Amino acid sequence: MIDFKDLHTIENPYPALKELRAFGKPVWHEELQLFLAAKHSDANDVLRNKSLGRIFLPKTPENEWFEFNYLHADSILDSEPPKHTRLRSLVAKAFNRQRIEALRPDIERLTHQLLDDIEAKGGEFDVIADYAEPLPVKVIAALLGFPDSDEHLLRPWSQAIVKMYEVNPSEAHKAEAKKAAKEFADYVHGLMLERLEKPGDDLISELARVTEAGEKLSTHELIATCVLLLNAGHEASVNGFGNGIVAAFQHLDQWKLLQSQPDAIAETAVEEFLRFDAPLHFFDRTATSDTEIGGVAIKEGQKIVSLLGSANRDEDVFVNSDQMDLTRNPNPHIGFGAGIHFCLGGPLARLEMSISLPELFNRFPNLELVGTPVRRPTFSLRGYESVMARTN
Ligand code: HEM
Repeated sequence: MIDFKDLHTIENPYPALKELRAFGKPVWHEELQLFLAAKHSDANDVLRNKSLGRIFLPKTPENEWFEFNYLHADSILDSEPPKHTRLRSLVAKAFNRQRIEALRPDIERLTHQLLDDIEAKGGEFDVIADYAEPLPVKVIAALLGFPDSDEHLLRPWSQAIVKMYEVNPSEAHKAEAKKAAKEFADYVHGLMLERLEKPGDDLISELARVTEAGEKLSTHELIATCVLLLNAGHEASVNGFGNGIVAAFQHLDQWKLLQSQPDAIAETAVEEFLRFDAPLHFFDRTATSDTEIGGVAIKEGQKIVSLLGSANRDEDVFVNSDQMDLTRNPNPHIGFGAGIHFCLGGPLARLEMSISLPELFNRFPNLELVGTPVRRPTFSLRGYESVMARTN
């Protein structure tokens, strides 16, 4: 049975995921004590089934991850209706298509600035640290209303927090993650109090107003939601971009396509990046009543995981599913999830990537990757720590 901690599996999980799909139905993972839904139809059903919910446990201080869990347990992602419906409707307004489309000029300006800096530096640069990461961080920070002068704090906090997803995190990394979660929460709380005094045209001000006005949003929910938005708002985008770039470089015909017509294929390329090597692989749900997925009974209290990266390689849904095809269309991948927790930031992530991807190749048509990209040692959050490239 697949071992999610095995470093070879983390390096290339796709053969093991293919074996799981070959069972044709969800399978029981004895060690983890949960079902794995690897086929597209099953993984999709897990996310849409109303008897399967996100149950976030435990919230008690005795738990080692108390500060961390406590922070997450009140966010949109880890809530279920009716709380989820209330939180989602408050935040969704900020992420509607019109508001996101209005960010286009800002995203283009930021992209050009980053490319100018890379060009000025000349020679080699890190696709992750110098390009893929700063853009979504700057965009989400501006949307939330974090002051520019504090931007340097955000990435380190977020990076420290995601260390909890490592395979066997060290004591030092655990301590870093917890410290960052606490500092980040205190920081957002401080900003919220400031914005109540002096509101601005940003999401924290808007949510702080709702918090003060009534019962709709508690202070803790606001903090948890802002922290989630900052993390979700860039970790997956960065990883999706990095995974896609490396995969395209490993498929030279696709790399040449990107070099020769970056603007023409930008939109389909972004979708294929997210399908071919998904940045998020593992989302579990718990049965709140007896139910069934793919003909397998899931009893109340049992867990089942939606394996998004496996679903996206399902040979029953995608022709030549193990081949990267940047012009693939239609592309019904479930990289952004499905059902009530479907990614709220999908339109923003798509807009950012569909601008930054072609602009990278327009500016550096002879771009080349150098050395071996460094993978993060996590299965669930799949990405690279560093991807070095040469502008030539
Ligand atoms: C390529 C980039 C991204 C990917 C692949 C991605 C993927 C996902 C997935 C799979 C979920 C569902 C999780 C579940 O069902 O348990 C999700 C939820 C969410 N995402 Fe994203 N995401 C991306 C970018 C973003 C961005 C840019 C934002 C915000 C600025 C964002 C905000 C959220 C939020 C708030 C949720 C929770 C929604 C809810 O629970 O109702 N995401 N995302």
